[in-house]
Amino acid sequence: MRRAVCPGSFDPVTNGHIDIFRRAARLFDEVVVATGTNVSKNRLFSPDERMAMLREATADLPNVRVAGFTGLIVDFCREIDAVAIVKGIRGATDYEYELPMAQMNVHLTGVETVFLAGATGNVFVSSSLIKEVASFGGDVSAFVPPYVLAALGEKLPPRS
Ligand code: PNS
Repeated sequence: MRRAVCPGSFDPVTNGHIDIFRRAARLFDEVVVATGTNVSKNRLFSPDERMAMLREATADLPNVRVAGFTGLIVDFCREIDAVAIVKGIRGATDYEYELPMAQMNVHLTGVETVFLAGATGNVFVSSSLIKEVASFGGDVSAFVPPYVLAALGEKLPPRS
């Protein structure tokens, strides 16, 4: 059984993340989508809200489950016996952000990070941009599933 972890804040999950989950699910026997806390980011959704959206997003993927983690991602990987971390890379900025984390994680426990090329249609899609555009009433329906769109509408009442 080869298990991988797809970690992230997922605040909220986007179509770009879901594409990576699907593709990771074809590469590994089991994929655990794990919501963690990026200490340098402000969050809109609570951990429970983010996990509920992730469960919907992965409901049709039988070998994918959702979990939360606190502390270091490498400790979570060891706890659940995961051999790899899977991350999507949209471009050079993602690579520069992800590479030091991947290197640190190899240093800490030897866990490998597998980078998947982000789908070209999702290159500019990020949770942060989705939240910003939605907060000003912009249409983000092409980039998130309908239940995420509804949750954004509830969290972000239109600015006057
Ligand atoms: O949505 P993000 O910002 O890509 O998520 C980043 C996250 C939460 C996956 C990352 O910050 C993380 O792994 N945090 C857990 C704490 C940790 O292990 N930090 C050291 C990473 S080398």
